[in-house]
Amino acid sequence: MLKIISLVGARPNFIKLAPFVHAINKHNEGGGQYVEHILVHTGQHYDDRMSQTFFEQLNIPQADINLGVGSGSHAQQVGQTMIEFEKVLQQHKPHWVVVVGDVNATLAGSVTAKKEWVKCCHIEAGLRSGDITMPEEVNRLVTDRLSDLLLTPDTLSSENLRKEGTPEDRIVFVGNIMIDTLEANRGKAKEMSIHSIITANQINQSVVTLSCDALSVVEGSKGNHPITQSGNQSILKDDHYAVITLHRPSNVDHKEVLEPLVQFLLEEVTRDYTLIWPIHPRARKQLESFGLYEKVCSNPNLILLEPIGYLEMLRLNMGAKVMLTDSGGLQEECTILGTPCLTLRWNTERPITLTEHGGASILVGNNVARIREEYRIAVSKTRNPVRPELWDGHAAERCLEAILSYKG
Ligand code: UD1
Repeated sequence: MLKIISLVGARPNFIKLAPFVHAINKHNEGGGQYVEHILVHTGQHYDDRMSQTFFEQLNIPQADINLGVGSGSHAQQVGQTMIEFEKVLQQHKPHWVVVVGDVNATLAGSVTAKKEWVKCCHIEAGLRSGDITMPEEVNRLVTDRLSDLLLTPDTLSSENLRKEGTPEDRIVFVGNIMIDTLEANRGKAKEMSIHSIITANQINQSVVTLSCDALSVVEGSKGNHPITQSGNQSILKDDHYAVITLHRPSNVDHKEVLEPLVQFLLEEVTRDYTLIWPIHPRARKQLESFGLYEKVCSNPNLILLEPIGYLEMLRLNMGAKVMLTDSGGLQEECTILGTPCLTLRWNTERPITLTEHGGASILVGNNVARIREEYRIAVSKTRNPVRPELWDGHAAERCLEAILSYKG
């Protein structure tokens, strides 16, 4: 028997861990060495919409243990996770700890594992933005330095690890586990109606409702007419809307950055397209504190949504004319779906998603002049799906295989 404890904490972790859990179940059904899996949630993301929804939609069993860490400064989140996770490791004595991605749980999990002399496996190893001011870059560097098994999503990441002197026998190129989740769910997502996604999640209902009344507002606006009428219902059509997501501290924590960005969205993007914005709690808090929230809510061509589930986001991505985002995961999903993607960052740890490497994403930072220029080009493009090597929906099986065959 092999005992594995996986530690997750934040929304993108759940999407990456789901296929790993399914791969363990499939392996156990097939016989061979039994794998006991204990799932631990730090509690960093605690709202139902940031956590529970993902467990339900992606069929992840309830976490066996929740550390109840919640919000706080980075030191509070990492420190509290270490204190609680150490107790879990001492009680359950696993053979392996598995951590995913680059969030605070990833860092806390790897450090605690190694201090307890437990082997650590990092899924999504080797990504580097080169920007040490990003909390995620600190988490990646420490986790990769400590991990015994580094499972990389692409060959550029394997190369990064080699350059840092990581021994070859620790690096295994397994492909992108996020894409396992995408491939397993794209059929379900395709069935969803954009209209129901919006009606179930819209925050600013009073401003833009997808009712016949709203039609006149939209038809009165310049540019494309995103909402057409069918029977007595209005439907937002594929290719007639743009999507934005923002959550990085570098974009949302400073008024001098966020305000011009919001102005560009409200004064330019919404003139061309209906803009759908599923809003992250950090972004919402900051818009409120900078006095920008009301403006966003009252724009007649901007649909503000609560944080939405995995399937809903995938569906919106499938039909979006353009994606504006600072999320790493969305850059990857846009590459597979072919959605032109403006990445609102100056660097990325995922260069394989950039157009120069064949992907769909362009780095535009948070300078409005640059964003405007690339936005004009992006909306003139047609969808161009691309599939990097081993982004084939089977990365999780290779992750488990790498652990089972580990000889260190
Ligand atoms: C975290 C990750 C980031 C990841 C992002 C995805 C780290 C360092 N950052 O950033 O890499 O891309 O998740 O969402 O781990 N909040 C809620 N409800 C929740 C969770 C958070 O209201 O369920 C609030 C918190 O109180 C806090 C803010 O959102 O004020 C930010 O949460 P936090 O977990 O600190 O970081 P994220 O920005 O979500």
